[in-house]
Amino acid sequence: MKTLTFNNGDQLPILGLGTWKSKPGEVFQAVLWALEAGYRHIDCAAIYNNEKEVGDALARAIADGIVKREDLFVTSKLWNDCHRLEDVRKGLSKTLMDLKLDYLDLYLIHWPISFKKGVGFAESREQFYTYSDVPLAQTWQGMQQVKSEGLVRHIGVSNFNISKLEELFAVGGQGPEMNQVEMHPYLRQDKLVEYCRGKEMLMTAYSPLGSGDRSTSIKKSDEPNLFEDPIVKQIADQYDVSPAQVLIAFSIHRDIAVIPKSVNKERINQNFQSATIQFKSPDLDLLLGIKNQYRFIDGSFFTGSKSPYSLRDLWEEV
Ligand code: A2P
Repeated sequence: MKTLTFNNGDQLPILGLGTWKSKPGEVFQAVLWALEAGYRHIDCAAIYNNEKEVGDALARAIADGIVKREDLFVTSKLWNDCHRLEDVRKGLSKTLMDLKLDYLDLYLIHWPISFKKGVGFAESREQFYTYSDVPLAQTWQGMQQVKSEGLVRHIGVSNFNISKLEELFAVGGQGPEMNQVEMHPYLRQDKLVEYCRGKEMLMTAYSPLGSGDRSTSIKKSDEPNLFEDPIVKQIADQYDVSPAQVLIAFSIHRDIAVIPKSVNKERINQNFQSATIQFKSPDLDLLLGIKNQYRFIDGSFFTGSKSPYSLRDLWEEV
């Protein structure tokens, strides 16, 4: 498996298992299947409300000798209600307890958005009253602290645009080592990729398959389907692989980590095989040249008349 390398030499397996939307009752088995298939990178988050069950699977796999802790790369994310300096360690402690680990390989600030304590996902208008104003610099200091204490090996962010990243670099000390954002042929993020490379940050692509199983409250009815894209389908036929495998290999070819979610054994295995696809460069160029552009996770659930945040705060190109 191809790996990406952090500045201190630590390796990140480029393909991981995503666990957003993996339900309790499904995710234990999914993680075990993934580890048995050879995945060594598991992407988690406190807000996914399934870390206990992911932790049960990790503990089982370690106890059964399927994998050693040191061969695993586990990522988790700090939720929006834990942005205060004193809350970063609390959020992390809960995640470590749930995952039954004594350190994380990578810890990310999930969104550049802060909520009042106890607020989960802002799905209803009423919850817009629950924002709080914690400067990102404070949260980043908390992240630097937990890294210096050895509770996490690497720190980074998710859903950060260039100006938000600049705020963190302005703090000084350890800068973000990872930016995890939505990325696929409909959202190449060229400018952000170039910026992150210039800062020696690694990147991870979330929703590489278009995240078709999102709840209807955060899904538009007329959104495009990456699996049905004519160029993706043409290349899938040409290489005798599935459209999902083309989309995963697309990210791997760009040296961007990728974390497709699945709770289905066959698809977990199929996705893992994507790492073996070798595109000829004209075919990669075809994928890079796809004109249709679309952001599936547009963040509009964080905006609205009562919210201090607008989409312009989140994405450069709005
Ligand atoms: P399932 O979990 O039943 O396999 P994303 O990673 O972009 O969020 O996409 C996840 C969605 O894609 C889920 O609905 C997942 O369903 C589905 N999926 C995962 N792998 C494949 C695959 N190889 N082929 C088709 N659908 C897939």
